[in-house]
Amino acid sequence: MVSGGGTNLQALIDAEKAGKIPHGHIDLVISNREGAYALTRARNAGIETVVVRKTDRDGQAGFEDRIIEELEKRGTELIILAGFMSILSERFTEKYPERIINVHPSLIPAFCGKGFYGLKVHEAALAYGVKVTGATVHFVNEIPDGGRIIKQKAVYIKEDDTPETLQRRVMEEAEWIILPEAAEQVCREISGKKEDSDGKI
Ligand code: GAR
Repeated sequence: MVSGGGTNLQALIDAEKAGKIPHGHIDLVISNREGAYALTRARNAGIETVVVRKTDRDGQAGFEDRIIEELEKRGTELIILAGFMSILSERFTEKYPERIINVHPSLIPAFCGKGFYGLKVHEAALAYGVKVTGATVHFVNEIPDGGRIIKQKAVYIKEDDTPETLQRRVMEEAEWIILPEAAEQVCREISGKKEDSDGKI
């Protein structure tokens, strides 16, 4: 699920193409924004796309029901929030325990939770004056950025960093590496559990 430029989605697409996600396959990209460049990246890679927007008429529950419908149609087993900028309700997250993962551009528990997203995270890290930041991939539960951590990677802050230069370096040195790694790790765990319950092991 995406909302913006989709560089993390691109990292997942490239990793799958390179054979680095042997236990998973990107089946569908859902965006909550019509113009998100992530949709173009998906279409260029031949991946099906759906736009689901939150409207005043049906609110959060209706928005999430339309997402659930798309996921159920395809039997989706793992949801990856790759720059998805809308907070999902508990009603949604409890339906998919340890089946939703998110990439966040800081070392959780620093600079995370409600209001910390995108460039704001890097602005906050620079304003605080931390010397090390990074990225985190974690499971998504009812607490924003509060689910179990799967992977983290640290990135050093430079004296002359701006929010924009820092954002780019955190992506290059951390997010684009740990998100595909975590995706494969969780897909492998899910396929292992399926084999267990099928009695194959
Ligand atoms: C990424 O830095 C991602 O970690 C962040 O938004 C950016 C999306 O970029 N996500 C959050 O802040 C979520 N709380 P992308 O669209 O190029 O992947």
